[in-house]
Amino acid sequence: MEILWEVDYFQPAEDQKSPLLNRPQKRPLRGVPVRRLDHVNLLASDVTVNKNFMMEQLGFRLREHIVLNNGIEAGCWLSVSPLVHEVALMRDGKGARGRLHHVCYWYGYPQNLNDLADVFREQGIYIEAGPGKHGISQAMFMYVYEPGGNRVELFGDPGYLIFDPAWKPIVWTEETLAAGIVWFGGNLPGEFFLYGTPVVHEQEPAMASA
Ligand SMILES: [Fe+2]
Repeated sequence: MEILWEVDYFQPAEDQKSPLLNRPQKRPLRGVPVRRLDHVNLLASDVTVNKNFMMEQLGFRLREHIVLNNGIEAGCWLSVSPLVHEVALMRDGKGARGRLHHVCYWYGYPQNLNDLADVFREQGIYIEAGPGKHGISQAMFMYVYEPGGNRVELFGDPGYLIFDPAWKPIVWTEETLAAGIVWFGGNLPGEFFLYGTPVVHEQEPAMASA
């Protein structure tokens, strides 16, 4: 991991500056005008040790997690803000380490995702899953691959927000997990639990029955 701080802020060119002063630049007239980065989802060979690092060293709080019957933590959702997660860690179904599962941008509302799905289909952008709704985070999702092969998620709402300082983490088990992964909107394909970037080819036991 690499931690960045005191980064340089984006400076728009003069003709890109917006009179809406709390916008970093004018709304682009092409592409998807996402409003903000929502979270990143990283694949890990061991979710728990990475979770402990994030919590003990960086002050993240555990919001939801998946604990399999054998006690292995298959995924966790962590945040420092009221978002359900800014960082998610999932067990790499291929046993690899240090891979990206997806980066997620908050775009808009559920109808926005339906409109975008039309655009993606017409433009040949691969839609892996969605629009649908996750149980975990309660957010409306759609997963696409950008041309470089990385999975990008678009959120059609922010999911629920947490303002309770004494929040008790939600535990999803193998018995309840199906509703956690998809609440409605069709199942996630098997590749969702195996594909990450960079691509690796060795095949190891997938995320148990998830
Ligand atoms: Fe996500």
